[in-house]
Amino acid sequence: MAEDLHIAKGTKEAQYIALIPQIAALLEGEKHLIANLANVTAALKQQFGWLWVGFYQVKGDQLVLGPFQGPIACTRINKGRGVCGTSWAEAKTIVVPEVSKFPGHIACSSASKSEIVIPILVHGDVVAVLDVDSDKLDDFDAVDQKYLEEIIGLIKFK
Ligand code: SME
Repeated sequence: MAEDLHIAKGTKEAQYIALIPQIAALLEGEKHLIANLANVTAALKQQFGWLWVGFYQVKGDQLVLGPFQGPIACTRINKGRGVCGTSWAEAKTIVVPEVSKFPGHIACSSASKSEIVIPILVHGDVVAVLDVDSDKLDDFDAVDQKYLEEIIGLIKFK
């Protein structure tokens, strides 16, 4: 495993393209899920500098906070609540350009302005979500969706 992440410059797409093989290398040979989730959050935070990057894992009828980088956050989210709970309930990625306009948005940090949440499915069931928050409005688009979904696909959940 490389000791340092190479931080790429250029377009957002170029940054993802440089980051993805490094994440694949980080995950290679390590089976422990929490260790892998922790390194994925760190790599994304280092490359993009977003406000908050983290995972929530499905535990019974709630999402429970997992590895993350950023300010302290809500520990439990009910199914269907907020952006994360909605992404879980609908099993689809949700891009929120302005969080104050999302009905039921859970404000863990008042600095968060936009958000993307990607559900992680194993055999058709959502087992976790990746949540990314930005302190800029409208910071996420189809490019983020495409590459973050690709990154999620590199993680072995079961
Ligand atoms: N804003 C999220 C809650 C999690 S924090 O942003 C880390 C939501 O509405 O689900």
